[in-house]
Amino acid sequence: MTHTVSRRHLLGAAAFAPLVARAQDTAPAPIFGQPGKDVIWAPTPDAMVDRMLRLAGLRPRDFVIDLGAGDGKIVIAAAKAGARGLGIEYNPELVTLARQRAQAAGVAEHARFEKADIFESDFSRASIVTLYLLPRLNLRLRHRLLALTPGTRVVSHSFDMGDWRPDEVTNAGGATAFLWLVPANFGGEWALRFPLADGSEARGLLEVDQRFQQVGGAAVFRDFTASLRQPLLAGDRVRFALTDAEGQLREFDGRIAGRELIGKVTQGDARVPFRADRTDAAIPLIGGSEPVRPPRD
Ligand SMILES: C[S@@+](CC[C@H](N)C(=O)[O-])C[C@H]1O[C@@H](n2cnc3c(N)ncnc32)[C@H](O)[C@@H]1O
Repeated sequence: MTHTVSRRHLLGAAAFAPLVARAQDTAPAPIFGQPGKDVIWAPTPDAMVDRMLRLAGLRPRDFVIDLGAGDGKIVIAAAKAGARGLGIEYNPELVTLARQRAQAAGVAEHARFEKADIFESDFSRASIVTLYLLPRLNLRLRHRLLALTPGTRVVSHSFDMGDWRPDEVTNAGGATAFLWLVPANFGGEWALRFPLADGSEARGLLEVDQRFQQVGGAAVFRDFTASLRQPLLAGDRVRFALTDAEGQLREFDGRIAGRELIGKVTQGDARVPFRADRTDAAIPLIGGSEPVRPPRD
C-alpha cells in the first residue's frame, strides 16, 4: 500500500470498490473500505504499524489508545511489545474481531477494546495516541490532543494536524506517519532566578510566546533584556540560552511542572540549578489549542 493509496482509500471511500478481506476469526470478516461512522475501515499496513510504534518510542510502561481501532492491530502490536492499550471503535463487529485477535495473540489482558465514539470518549490516560482517520477528524480532535499530559506522543498515519506542525515525519513502505509531542504550557510570564559567577543571584522576568510547540520570547533584567536563543519545547522539556549580565552564554535545560520550571543552567564548565515560577494568575491557553471548525475533506 503506497502513501498515495493510503490517502485515497480514506479520502475516496465512495469510489472505492470493496475487496473482501480474508476471514481469520469467527467474527464477521471486515470488508476493505466498508463504511464506518466517520471514516471507512482500512487497516494500517503491518510495516507502518511497526514504524508508528517505533516513532512513538513505545516502552512497556506505555498505554496506547488507538482512536478508531478497526481490527485492533495497532493495540495488539503494542501489547505484543509489552505495553498496554485500548482500542476505541464504533463498529461492534470490529470490536468483537479485535477482541478475538487479541485473545488469539495471547494479549487479551493488555489489549482491550471498547465500542464507543471517539468524539465522546475519554482518552486522557494515553501516553501514546494513534490515529488513521481523516484530516478533518484530526482537526476535530486536535484541541483535545493538545490538552493531554505534556509529553504524550500522538502518531497519525497518512494525515497531519493542519498548522500544528509535526515534531517528526516518517516515510516507510510508501506510507507516511507524523509524530507530535504534546507540549507543556510555557507561554506567559515567569520569574527567573539563577546564580551568577560572582555568587549573586540573577533575577529576571521571562516573557514567553507559544503557539503549539513553537516558542520564543525574552528575559527582562533590571539593566537589559535578552531574547531567548534557540528556544526549544519538547513535551515538558524546555531549553534556551541567553547572555547574562557578566557576558557569559548560559544554557538552560529544565522541565515544566505546572507553575514551576526547574532545571540546570551552565556556569563555566559546571551546571548549576535554576528555577522559574509563573507570575501570571490566569495562565494563557496554549496558542493554537482552541477548537477549530474543520473544512470538508
Ligand atoms: C481507517 S480505519 C483505521 C483502523 C486502525 N486504526 C488501523 O490503523 O488499522 C478507521 C476506523 O475508525 C472507525 N471509526 C470511524 N468513525 C468512528 C468514531 N466516530 N468512533 C470510533 N470509531 C470510528 C472505523 O469503523 C474504522 O474501523
